[in-house]
Amino acid sequence: MHLFMARTLTFILLLLSSLLLSPATGDEAAAIEELALLSFKSSLLSHGGSLLTSWNKSSHHCTWQGVVCSHHQDKVVKLLLLSSNLSGIISPSLGNLSFLKILDLNGNHLSGEIPPELGRLSRLRWMNLSSNFLQGKIPVAIGAYMY
Ligand SMILES: *[C@@H]1O[C@H](CO)[C@@H](O)[C@H](O)[C@H]1NC(C)=O
Ligand SMILES: *[C@@H]1O[C@H](CO)[C@@H](O)[C@H](O)[C@H]1NC(C)=O
Ligand SMILES: *[C@@H]1O[C@H](CO)[C@@H](O)[C@H](O)[C@H]1NC(C)=O
Ligand SMILES: *[C@@H]1O[C@H](CO)[C@@H](O)[C@H](O)[C@H]1NC(C)=O
Repeated sequence: MHLFMARTLTFILLLLSSLLLSPATGDEAAAIEELALLSFKSSLLSHGGSLLTSWNKSSHHCTWQGVVCSHHQDKVVKLLLLSSNLSGIISPSLGNLSFLKILDLNGNHLSGEIPPELGRLSRLRWMNLSSNFLQGKIPVAIGAYMY
């Protein structure tokens, strides 16, 4: 009887720990996305006035201006910061927004090169970086996924 109870207890503990551990994995993914967005912000010289003031840790990054998340999983799927008077470089950290489908940064004053890390965005379907001061080529890897 004791053995049975011990096994049942072990089973319950395993069940509980798996229930407690699974949200942590989601939190980790969210932390990576938050960090990627904050690195993007910090690589900008100008934040287009007050546009990015909401980009701080007092609220979830899915509520930040220009950030659109998927409804069910809270993954960043769109980054819409067109004509926002942003200057500075495009941070390679955007390559960590693994679920990004749409990236619109057109009509800003962004300079430097398009980071090759954007080639890691396998779900990217549409990107508009026109009307900036970007140099160099579009990394080959990006084209591999877009149609
Ligand atoms: C754009 O940002 C620059 C600073 O980089 C600022 O001087 C200028 O007034 C801003 N323009 C607009 C329309 O907000
Ligand atoms: C942080 O974002 C909130 C909006 O979510 C805004 O009201 C607040 O002023 C921001 N704080 C700073 C320090 O920019
Ligand atoms: C991407 O995220 C990883 C953590 O998963 C981190 O170590 C790395 O520095 C991030 N890369 C960039 C370019 O932010
Ligand atoms: C990018 O945005 C500009 C300005 O809105 C537009 O003229 C252009 O057609 C867009 N490019 C693509 C590839 O959608």
